Amino acid sequence: MTVAIEMGHTTAGAPAALDLEELLATRLLVQGNSGSGKSHLLRRLLEQSAPWVQQTIIDPEGDFVSLGDRFGHLVIDAEEHTERGLQSAGERARIHRVSTVLNLEGLDAENQMRRAAAFLGGLFEVARDHWYPMLVVVDEAQLFAPAVAGEVSDEARKLSLGAMTNLMCRGRKRGLAGIIATQRLAKLAKNVAAEASNFLMGRTFLDIDMARAADLLGMERRQAEAFRDLERGQFMALGPALSRRPLGLRIGPTETSPRNGTPRLMPLPEAALEDARAIILAAPPPETVRPQRRSSPDLLDQLMAAKSAALEIRPEAVEPPISAEDLAERRERVDRVLRAVLAQPDAGFRVIGVLYQEFVVRCRIEGLASVVPDLPEFRRMLTRARAGLGSDMAGDDAWQDVSVRASLLPEDMQGVFMMIARAAKEGWPCPSDAAIARAYGSHSLRRARRLLTYIEEQGLIVCQLDGVGRRTVTLVELAWATAPGDPNAEEAEQGSLAV
Ligand SMILES: Nc1ncnc2c1ncn2[C@@H]1O[C@H](COP(=O)(O)OP(=O)(O)OP(=O)(O)O)[C@@H](O)[C@H]1O
Ligand SMILES: [Mg+2]
Repeated sequence: MTVAIEMGHTTAGAPAALDLEELLATRLLVQGNSGSGKSHLLRRLLEQSAPWVQQTIIDPEGDFVSLGDRFGHLVIDAEEHTERGLQSAGERARIHRVSTVLNLEGLDAENQMRRAAAFLGGLFEVARDHWYPMLVVVDEAQLFAPAVAGEVSDEARKLSLGAMTNLMCRGRKRGLAGIIATQRLAKLAKNVAAEASNFLMGRTFLDIDMARAADLLGMERRQAEAFRDLERGQFMALGPALSRRPLGLRIGPTETSPRNGTPRLMPLPEAALEDARAIILAAPPPETVRPQRRSSPDLLDQLMAAKSAALEIRPEAVEPPISAEDLAERRERVDRVLRAVLAQPDAGFRVIGVLYQEFVVRCRIEGLASVVPDLPEFRRMLTRARAGLGSDMAGDDAWQDVSVRASLLPEDMQGVFMMIARAAKEGWPCPSDAAIARAYGSHSLRRARRLLTYIEEQGLIVCQLDGVGRRTVTLVELAWATAPGDPNAEEAEQGSLAV
């Protein structure tokens, strides 16, 4: 079977097709100056191929997060995870065949490189059983495979360049099809660019980029002059998956749009500021000790936000504002739906995307469509629910404090920490390894123990064993302590799981 996806139209007006199977074997390089339409092109490609093949996008600017809403890509905010966390996220995404957007927005160059490398490493290192075809799209590829050393450390550059080289040179056997886009061909490492056999060349101004492009395409440099005159959204295509001879094409429309459109010129405000000097040059606000990116998880606020977001998308669904009691009542019903979903056998070990779909359907059946939490919020609810915490605890001050501490940990560990904190607060026995593993969505007891060690190393808890091998966990600073509990107890013996 060949799958041809439509990228747009040729300048002659015929549909311009991209052969997906061929693309998997021969990779793609997109180049064009800023504003030439590369990201739009990538979006078109991703949208058209989403039903056919798993995909991941390395997204330095957070341009592609909107694919999550429409096509179900899991958005991973790299800022919130460690390199190790991202490496396993990459592996798991492959094993469970979930399409992802790695959002690197907000990180400095060094960390963008390190985290992208970790995630790509995870995709790459997975066992042979999981070598399914997958598109790996890297926008602004020159950031990850720079031609010359920049201001980042040698180590970061080596990691990132290594990951990109693996993707483009050794990815094919593993089913990984590299698709890379760059503003400046001359800034992209040569060996990385050279591994693509398909090219889409957009508007290019600088001679040095034009020369590189001509070399790659096997064109006369004089011919490459034509790249100067391409319009936005117009590309010259060449390669086995596209066309055997250089072919002009215009990229078609997309279903989703980048989160931030191009800034447009706007008339300046008419009224002059009363005292521009006083306002603009006022003393800066005091620096916060620890910048807290996310406010603590107050479910009520989040549901409010989810609701207004839902209303924005569907204007016909506008309802009168609902009272606090109503909201609390709906919140409880959403919680109940979640508990019902989680009560199913094996729910603890199913992929989150599957759980979420089911959750959304059940919410709709319950008439709760307007307050359905989005996927990130669902993930947080799930973590809390698996840890045995209800939304009723959101208002408790001591819990706010626990949540702030929890936010120091990678997101997937926060629930476990909260579960232990709950047991400590209530003076319950320390959860067993099995209970911890379950809260983490894993069957592995060893992983549960490693997790505890990790949280201890972060200085959040202290674990102690007594003479008969029972474990006590004490929360640092809060000094709440669990009762001694048997680490090897069967999960059913633990009374603390209220899910
Ligand atoms: N084929 C197209 N049809 C309609 N609009 C397009 C098309 N291509 C690009 N655009 C629009 O032009 C603007 C710039 O495109 P895009 O963001 O894709 O450029 P880019 O090459 O990725 O630029 P940069 O290198 O700065 O990221 C966007 O607002 C985009 O929506
Ligand atoms: Mg772009």
